[in-house]
Amino acid sequence: MSMNTAKIAALDKASVLHPFTQLKDFATGKLGDPTIVETGKGIRIKDATGREYIDGFAGLYCVNIGYGRTEVAEAISRQAYRLAYYHSYAAHTTDELAILSDRLVRMAPGKMSKVFYGLSGSDANETQVKLVWYYNNLRGQPKKKKIISRHRGYHGCSVISGSLTGMSFYHDHMDLPVSGILHTGTPHHYWEAHEGESEAEFSKRRAEELETLILREGPETVGAFIGEPVLGTGGITPPPEGYWPAIQAVLRKYDVLLIADEVITGFGRIGTPFGSHLYGIEPDLVTVAKGLTSAYFPLSGAIVGEKVFKVLEEGADRVGAFSHGFTYSGHPIGAAAANAVLDIVEKEDLAGKARTVGAYFQARLKEAFGQLPIVGEVRGVGMLGAVEFVPDRSVRKRFDPAHKVGARISAAARERGLIARAMPHGDILGFAPPLVTTESEIDEIVDIAEKAVRYVMDELAKEGVLR
Ligand SMILES: Cc1ncc(COP(=O)(O)O)c(C=O)c1O
Repeated sequence: MSMNTAKIAALDKASVLHPFTQLKDFATGKLGDPTIVETGKGIRIKDATGREYIDGFAGLYCVNIGYGRTEVAEAISRQAYRLAYYHSYAAHTTDELAILSDRLVRMAPGKMSKVFYGLSGSDANETQVKLVWYYNNLRGQPKKKKIISRHRGYHGCSVISGSLTGMSFYHDHMDLPVSGILHTGTPHHYWEAHEGESEAEFSKRRAEELETLILREGPETVGAFIGEPVLGTGGITPPPEGYWPAIQAVLRKYDVLLIADEVITGFGRIGTPFGSHLYGIEPDLVTVAKGLTSAYFPLSGAIVGEKVFKVLEEGADRVGAFSHGFTYSGHPIGAAAANAVLDIVEKEDLAGKARTVGAYFQARLKEAFGQLPIVGEVRGVGMLGAVEFVPDRSVRKRFDPAHKVGARISAAARERGLIARAMPHGDILGFAPPLVTTESEIDEIVDIAEKAVRYVMDELAKEGVLR
């Protein structure tokens, strides 16, 4: 493509509907021109003006193996030359798909049996909800259909997955959530604990609230609970001590399935193969996307546990074929990309690396930000980290959103060559660097972020926002 950048920017402005972009500000130029991303190598991307950025968020927590891995490009190319497409309906398959599925069933947490493929985390969660409904219809429990999610959980943007997402920003003016989706309390000790309440006590309370909700609705109407092992887009928040055991005890008591949304935490990001492994979660259904192909090709999976699959299989004589599927379910290029990516994840022990480099990363974040007067909490696990800003670290109170503190810090980091994400619903700077990031690259990331935070802190003081 040899069009100049001004022309590309004009075409884009005229014709692309960008996700999560203020449409009028973009159209009128208030947001400036689009950033035309041209190349990527390792943890860095370069735009059409030649500016380089460290991608401290691995795209959208997905490019875990880093940019420019030719092994994956070659696997994709080989598959495209050999067989670019065939569907997986009515018992058709490809070698890459069968190999990948065996691999996923063996590596996933819990007792898994089969994988259903989609193209995004959102559609995989949509599939999970349909599976829960189907499962309960087949076992003669047609009322057991409600799904419980958490406030500040993020599960996607489609009609059902957007309803599962527990943040109003994703619901407002979109007629979500739809009925039958309920939300329970956020597992975030910093904001939600009572004065003097320990993490373990807080977790127990969250589990009791879940039980109260299930009893209020009637256990015979509640089909599943969905949660990310570590809250992602809702703030990058590891669970408080004892949270998952307490929640699972309630779910088992009332025969409620557990869907582990491992879209971010799968494939090594927090130092274990899956997030469930770190927290002792034994899911019935597991959702994967992002790191599955490190975003080299769109691919997601709804991994189905033995308990659920057995009911589906036994019901087949009564109901006929499993009537769910997408044209691109099990796309052979996606499967080839995933196998090549998982080869790298295994060969380079990226989960182990996320554990060791991740420990260094967490320590550096605490050291750089832990004592700043506008930092309320530094948190994270493995290669996920977040710094949350408050006007006064001695008081649990948020900034007035009008000051846009998180967005300003993220912009200041970007001006200094680092992409770190301003998370929605709070003043939070989020980090999710590729799992191949080295300790010296972690130093670069933290140093730039610290400069950005100190710059905005000075500006806020000048503006009289800080006392
Ligand atoms: C935990 C989780 N689930 C689901 C999704 C939705 O995935 P997608 O954007 O591919 O639809 C995301 C995306 O960020 C996610 O973080």
